[in-house]
Amino acid sequence: MRQVRTLGLLGTGVIGGGWAARALHFGIDVLAADVKPEMEQWIRGAVANAEGALARLTFAPLPPKGRLSFTTDLHAMARQADFIQENIPEQLELKRRVLADVSRHAAPDVVIASSTSGLMPSDLQRDVQAPERVLVAHPFNPVYLLPLVELVGGRQTSEAAMEAAQRFFTYIGMHPLRVRREVPGHLTDRLQEALWREILHMVNEDVATTGELDDSIVYGPGLRWAAMGTNLIYHLAGGETGMRHMLRQFGPCLKWPWTKLEAPELTEALIDKMVAGTQAQAAGRSIRELERLRDDCLVAIQQVLKQYNIGAGATLRSLEERLYGEAGADARRKLEHAPAAASAGPLRMLETQVRPEWIDYNGHMTDSRYLQVFGDATDALFRSAGIDDAYRKSGGAMYTVETHVKHHAEARALERLYVTTQVLDCDDKRVRVRHSLHRGRDDAQVASAEQLYLHVNTAAGKAAPMPETVRARLAPAPASQARPG
Ligand SMILES: NC(=O)c1ccc[n+]([C@@H]2O[C@H](COP(=O)([O-])OP(=O)(O)OC[C@H]3O[C@@H](n4cnc5c(N)ncnc54)[C@H](O)[C@@H]3O)[C@@H](O)[C@H]2O)c1
Repeated sequence: MRQVRTLGLLGTGVIGGGWAARALHFGIDVLAADVKPEMEQWIRGAVANAEGALARLTFAPLPPKGRLSFTTDLHAMARQADFIQENIPEQLELKRRVLADVSRHAAPDVVIASSTSGLMPSDLQRDVQAPERVLVAHPFNPVYLLPLVELVGGRQTSEAAMEAAQRFFTYIGMHPLRVRREVPGHLTDRLQEALWREILHMVNEDVATTGELDDSIVYGPGLRWAAMGTNLIYHLAGGETGMRHMLRQFGPCLKWPWTKLEAPELTEALIDKMVAGTQAQAAGRSIRELERLRDDCLVAIQQVLKQYNIGAGATLRSLEERLYGEAGADARRKLEHAPAAASAGPLRMLETQVRPEWIDYNGHMTDSRYLQVFGDATDALFRSAGIDDAYRKSGGAMYTVETHVKHHAEARALERLYVTTQVLDCDDKRVRVRHSLHRGRDDAQVASAEQLYLHVNTAAGKAAPMPETVRARLAPAPASQARPG
């Protein structure tokens, strides 16, 4: 299957908009197709709306944003896309017809994935040309912040298509969960529906309001679920003997009629109660306002989980590791192709962009972001010398000892920036570097910084000599050994 540079979207509603925002953020071009021309304005608004939260998700150096284009010509989209994600309404016959039509215009090595919440891939691939590239990739709203995507293959889906999809979704920061066997509703919606059915029963029978039922999750199990799922949590609830004890103690309750398998009838009275309940919970706040609040919380939660390398935080951590790794590899390539090492002259270490939320009340990049950009440039330099995650795990690290920043000009929102870096001195424990931050459009120097780093043995918590290989890559070469210019 081919490498994905352009993601084609089929249907650009809530889910199509979410896919677009995520893919663009991680440097993939998006060609969005919808039968309704007015959806162009909608999807551009959806992408703009997601930008604030997405930009706060990670400060790791990102590739340049992808470009968004829109068409009502589904065939043209299929001809140009390297990967197609379908997000049209949840109707089997409609999806079947549109997928079959689009597949005749897409090369056979283009994966076609459906966002369907519950339809089975074998049913979707029936009339498609080259059905082995069709699969389900079920995301969760908001697609741009939740990493889970359920990957489900149908009877005809090839392993190559599943692997290609897994690679692509991992690349755009997701956690692909391979579902072993296709079942209606996949895994997550089956679980969510069970909960929702009980909610509908309890509201119907006036046992609780929608707000009380949400409280029953938000103040309790919901907090646990972000880090550990129901099974691991129940294992803990069973004491020393874990799940075995838990099942022995609470297993009999499963046979008592706590829950109901049949959904209640959706009468007008029940619908009214559900609507009135959620409107009371919204307390006058618009959907957009609530979305922003939800998104801020989702970003904050993932950042906390990242510290513990668990759940969605582990996904974020490995994404960042890759992004920093790519910045380091880029720096290493530059070092190898440069006429001299970073020690012999400044090298372009980092390309970035002033993100909108980096701006202060004067409309310029705010102080703390200068440190971040210089820190990212240093990180790229050190990685190019071999100081990466594996190196840190082995017990060595560079600690910042001093930083001096001088500001020379302003940088505004969305301005392209680059940093050049030079090693000024390096002995067996210390490295002193100078960074220069420039605007991409006119090369004007925006700021400069000098930083001193100390090599430490992290277990001992003390300065320690760096290995000769690392030092040799960082240290200014004697003039006689300098590479030819
Ligand atoms: N909304 C969710 O929370 C959610 C979550 C996960 C998955 N999904 C799944 O994603 C899919 C889309 O859901 P949604 O909520 O974005 O729906 P939506 O109604 O917001 O968007 C559907 C879009 O498809 C377009 N469309 C309709 N017919 C089309 C056609 N023939 N060709 C091209 N475009 C067409 C519509 O104009 C609309 O813009 C569904 O399969 C749904 O089950 C939804």
